[in-house]
Amino acid sequence: MTSELGRRIARRIAIAGPISVADFMAEALGHPTLGYYRRAMPLGAAGDFTTAPEISQMFGELVGAWLAERWQAMGNPGPVRLVELGPGRGTLMADALRATRSVPGFHAAIDLHLVETNEMLAARQATVLSAFKPSWHERFDQVPAGPLLLVANEFFDALPVRQFHKTARGWSERMVGLSSDGKSLAFALAPGSTPFAAFLPEAAEGAEAELCEQGRALAADIGTRVMRDGGWALLIDYGRDVSGPGSSLQAVRAHRGADLLDRPGETDLSAHVDFGALAAAVRAAASKARVFGPTGQGDFLQQLGIRQRADMLMTHASPPQRHAVDAALQRLIAPDQMGTLFRVMAVGDDRSAAPVGFEPGISGVT
Ligand SMILES: C[S@@+](CC[C@H](N)C(=O)[O-])C[C@H]1O[C@@H](n2cnc3c(N)ncnc32)[C@H](O)[C@@H]1O
Repeated sequence: MTSELGRRIARRIAIAGPISVADFMAEALGHPTLGYYRRAMPLGAAGDFTTAPEISQMFGELVGAWLAERWQAMGNPGPVRLVELGPGRGTLMADALRATRSVPGFHAAIDLHLVETNEMLAARQATVLSAFKPSWHERFDQVPAGPLLLVANEFFDALPVRQFHKTARGWSERMVGLSSDGKSLAFALAPGSTPFAAFLPEAAEGAEAELCEQGRALAADIGTRVMRDGGWALLIDYGRDVSGPGSSLQAVRAHRGADLLDRPGETDLSAHVDFGALAAAVRAAASKARVFGPTGQGDFLQQLGIRQRADMLMTHASPPQRHAVDAALQRLIAPDQMGTLFRVMAVGDDRSAAPVGFEPGISGVT
């Protein structure tokens, strides 16, 4: 364990005992000064990972088209709270807004709200989105009431997960404690069974499971909010459609897999999003809210016209530019790249027509 934050977590455990994996993840990502999402500039080629909007402008442009179409389906409300959770470098929103300039009345209706905890990223968002005078918040529930259009790309995967292991006695929670020599962080199972067992799937001994309480609570808030004020949310992340056993928490540093407990604060931690659990949380909180998907990112983007958009970009491009557009297209939609693993889910009110992008698999990806 080499990071300053790792040493602090170890001291806390030595005094107060083991912490849950969710507490460890929350600290590793969100510690006020040393957390990964508080201090580093994690995104892009020089960072630890890249994301769809950073791969190609087409991604943000098509999300923008989807949001503008939802605004029209809602009856052109103004003002509309346009919210992005975890906007990163602001690229998705900048591309979305540029692509929707010509939608009559849309930009005049927008009141832009960004939910972001990283000050360096917020400063970057302020630069690229200054024309829209955004407001920043630490949490979604701080966004003022009113009709909602929300997008979150690779946000839910950064929310802390608890982990569990099925023993002969039932589910036990995995904790982060200290190694036997007390020098490094180490996983250990909590003694006895867990009160979270009621939320965990049926599984054989030896199985693993994860639970993202913050993700479920946020999905419930979004469902409640769209039913109360009207609105639509588009959630995009890597993950799975149906809840079940399995563990997915992973660590990435400099575009490579890393040890989960090594160097907290300097390593990105993320878990696959359980879209089945998010949909269930929406329905439990707001039974009339409508959920579309999850569908594959490849299908979604193709139904929104990404191939046509790529053709347009290639029309007046040089051969190297054409190659770059085609490579980005494949990366975003091909099943062996981001097209299938990344899932797209929409949550909306019961007052507007169904959104585009969620017809069952028609992709025929090449
Ligand atoms: C993986 S990045 C994705 C960035 C962007 N959406 C994109 O696709 O490029 C996660 C984003 O969420 C922010 N973030 C992570 N955890 C957060 C939290 N608990 N509250 C608010 N923002 C958070 C990060 O600072 C970052 O902007």
